[in-house]
Amino acid sequence: MSSWQIWRDRRGRLSALRLVALALLLFPLAKALFDFDAIAHGARPLNDLIHRAGFWALVFLGVTLAVTPFRRIARYGNLIDVRRMLGVGAFCYIATHLALYVADQKFDWAKVAYELSHRIYLIVGGIAWLGLATLAITSTDGMVRRLGGLRWRRLHQAIYAIALLALIHYFQQTKADVTVPTFAAGLLTWLFGYRLLAWWRDTDELSALHLLGLAVAVAVLTFAGEAIGIGITFGVSPLRVLDSVFDFDAGIRPGWQVLAAGLAVVALDIVRARWHSRSPRSRAVAAE
Ligand code: HEM
Repeated sequence: MSSWQIWRDRRGRLSALRLVALALLLFPLAKALFDFDAIAHGARPLNDLIHRAGFWALVFLGVTLAVTPFRRIARYGNLIDVRRMLGVGAFCYIATHLALYVADQKFDWAKVAYELSHRIYLIVGGIAWLGLATLAITSTDGMVRRLGGLRWRRLHQAIYAIALLALIHYFQQTKADVTVPTFAAGLLTWLFGYRLLAWWRDTDELSALHLLGLAVAVAVLTFAGEAIGIGITFGVSPLRVLDSVFDFDAGIRPGWQVLAAGLAVVALDIVRARWHSRSPRSRAVAAE
């Protein structure tokens, strides 16, 4: 089997899971083709594409980070098979993001170098870019062998710092409405929180109660973070911003969206726990 046939698993069989992951990765491309007319006749077609590529890179970075918690919560271990594919996919979008930016600068390399070293949001994005490139280059089986499992895992833990930088870059270049970046920040906080909680409790399987606590804590942090951010930006008291949390006419605040996502995860955990017996390790612990 050729290694470029990424829709086949390690044994060379056609993999439905890989096909789904591939379709997911190609979706933004298909959407851009579908929106071709609107993009081409828009004010700044290249800038539109830069935004799309950056946005989807961040989405796939988040999806890659979600694989480990999700495979545990959904009791679907096979999911690990597509983690590398999703991570490399995120890098492909970020490589496109940079290439489009260079094209937008009319391939004026001196200008690109100047901007990348003088604009704070581009410096932050540039560091995240280099980090993702390093992880993509070292994602092959050969590199895992060369670096050794432990060193490879330590290096790849940098994905959390990279995601944080990418998020800062997203906030820095967002001019008006920060609803979507705040929602993204909430989801990323959940992912960080899950890892921290699992490490602190020294377990691979957090209980539904832990997940519920995490969902509520992250939603509260999202509400507070948004209120403080808006308070600082517009010089108003964050408490006044929090007053409008229940005003659904003004839109559903990111804190609610994050809470809904967190509760959906709790529901998934409960449903899967009922249908699937826990892992042998958990059963052994329960029997003690
Ligand atoms: C050398 C590296 C990078 C460059 C030169 C760059 C450049 C840009 C530029 C020019 C914009 C649009 C700004 C505007 O229109 O005012 C942008 C937006 C964005 N970038 Fe980057 N970026 C880089 C790295 C990254 C990385 C590593 C990520 C995430 C993994 C990322 C994610 C985003 C996102 C999410 C947006 C906003 C998209 C939206 O508006 O929906 N960028 N970037």
